Amino acid sequence: MVTLGEGSTPLLPVPRLSARLGVELWVKWEGSNPTGSFKDRGMAVAVSRALDRGAPGIVCASTGNTAASAAAYGARAGLPVVVVTSRGSVARGKVIQARAVGVELREIDGSFNDAHLEARRLAEAEGLVNVNSINPDRIEGQASAAREVLEQLGGVPDVLALPYGGGGNTVSYARGFGETLPRFVLGEAAQRRETFATAIRIAEPVHRREVDDVLERSGGQIVSLSEPDLERAWRSLAREEGIFCEPASAAGIAAVEAAGFRDVRVVCVVTGHGLKDPDAV
Ligand code: F0G
Repeated sequence: MVTLGEGSTPLLPVPRLSARLGVELWVKWEGSNPTGSFKDRGMAVAVSRALDRGAPGIVCASTGNTAASAAAYGARAGLPVVVVTSRGSVARGKVIQARAVGVELREIDGSFNDAHLEARRLAEAEGLVNVNSINPDRIEGQASAAREVLEQLGGVPDVLALPYGGGGNTVSYARGFGETLPRFVLGEAAQRRETFATAIRIAEPVHRREVDDVLERSGGQIVSLSEPDLERAWRSLAREEGIFCEPASAAGIAAVEAAGFRDVRVVCVVTGHGLKDPDAV
């Protein structure tokens, strides 16, 4: 098992935000993972399994966090790592994390979706294991977060809110909760192609079909968020509660605020650390 001590992240009560929004709000703080994002849960499993199968290396496309995580777990496993990104779309902290480890960084003049296709092509052509969330080991590893929520809360919350980029994390939580799903509330950037929340700058979600299925099964919804909506939620989480996340990570909070729930128990997954994106501040 290739591990850096991922998972077992805190579930924090956020009393000021709860009072202001009129709900019982909890934050699953995934920024406290080893490389500062939820990606480490799935990467630990995917890289362990890749090593087990004798893979010559791993490859991924990324808006930054998957790259930082693949870099760290690849180094830990002694495997070469190739990362494909969309030029100019990755926050500074994440580029630094990848560079520190010395991964092969390929910047393309295209979107994240183009990078995703290129990573799949490289996996095929060079026999590398693709560690994007199309790899089922990633989904399986990330499902651990839902099981932790069940343990920490002592049951299923009424609502689970999280950011919606490609949808891999949504699929993972649904898997982890099993038969009884909370209502899934997904915050996505209205301006998917150019949002300042670069982690979710993804025009077309890879897991759209599965996500739609989760929404139908859970009576959930997608909330489309303006840039000021995202910014306000991000700022208030830091200023009212001392939880400093990167901008995309507050999308679940923004979605709950916009949906206008009352007197329900809500868990918001806050996905990545604020130090990832110093320029946003
Ligand atoms: N929050 C953060 C901080 C992320 O990095 C991502 C995705 C998401 C939310 C959205 O999760 O795609 O499972 O719906 N980051 C990917 C990456 C795309 O390459 O790091 P999703």
